[in-house]
Amino acid sequence: MEYTIQTYGLCKKYGGCSVVQNVSMHVPKGKIYGLLGRNGAGKTTIMKILLGLVKKDSGSVTLFNQVMADYQSGIYARIGSTIESPGFYSNLTAVENLSVFSRLRGKVDKNKIRNALNVVGLPYQDKKIFSKYSLGMKQRLAIANAIINDPELLILDEPTNGLDPIGIAEMRILIRRLSHECGKTILISSHQLSEMEQMVDWIGIIHEGRMLEECSYQQLEENRQHSYIRLVVKEPEQVYEYLKKTLSIENIKRPEASAIEIYDLKYGTLELNSRLFAAGFAVAEISKCQNSLEDYFKKMTGGAGIA
Ligand SMILES: Nc1ncnc2c1ncn2[C@@H]1O[C@H](COP(=O)(O)OP(=O)(O)OP(=O)(O)O)[C@@H](O)[C@H]1O
Ligand SMILES: [Mg+2]
Repeated sequence: MEYTIQTYGLCKKYGGCSVVQNVSMHVPKGKIYGLLGRNGAGKTTIMKILLGLVKKDSGSVTLFNQVMADYQSGIYARIGSTIESPGFYSNLTAVENLSVFSRLRGKVDKNKIRNALNVVGLPYQDKKIFSKYSLGMKQRLAIANAIINDPELLILDEPTNGLDPIGIAEMRILIRRLSHECGKTILISSHQLSEMEQMVDWIGIIHEGRMLEECSYQQLEENRQHSYIRLVVKEPEQVYEYLKKTLSIENIKRPEASAIEIYDLKYGTLELNSRLFAAGFAVAEISKCQNSLEDYFKKMTGGAGIA
């Protein structure tokens, strides 16, 4: 597989505090890669290192097969980003704002501006000034600014942050279109797994500066959506022993005092229920459950505090 971004053993400390620790990440060319982590996990810092806005302490970064130390001039022109708010002028329209930022980068090309606004779904002939924009429109304008020069790689820091569910769905469609129709490689960050669903192809879970897991989204789903049977019983100790010893069930967890979770599904709920009944146990609850990805992410990253 060809990678547009590759890091190896990336480290960064701020005032003695490690905020990025030994991060190796691999963003496949033409794919959407989601960097998922709680507030303060280190997502923005990693993105800033990739863009040369923050200096790494150690490790390596390779972009477009060029090692950072040997970057050819113009490499950053191949990347569009929304990592730092570009500081749009509140009293200017979208076209006026994009013209200002185009001028800073070189020259103003009205066709490119028109095209970028069209891609993100903002009207070209709009008199509305930036201060009257909704959050969703502001996020779109930031993306328009990032894609004006048709970059191969987009680095978008929390593009769905603060959007309502419909805004998130629209952003998802936009990002997928940029990838599928325009062939761009896209790195996005989010602190919420649900925002990445149906959007990312690959995922990197980052926690306290470390990469906990990196895989395709499909793989993550396959690995983590375990089915299990949940039992609530009156005599959990005895039932636990019975399941292990008499029925030879291996994979059993005890999440709470009276609850038992069985991951080894050699018996279905009906069969299990009748066996427990026959053995004289009182079953208050028996149900087939699934661990959602969100549960998994919460378990991995410490639970409380995930929005
Ligand atoms: N310039 C800085 N000086 C000192 N500490 C910093 C600096 N920038 C970031 N940090 C710290 O580094 C850690 C990671 O921050 P970072 O912004 O990368 O996290 P994040 O994953 O983007 O979080 P969020 O979801 O809140 O945006 C945090 O503890 C933060 O306080
Ligand atoms: Mg951040």
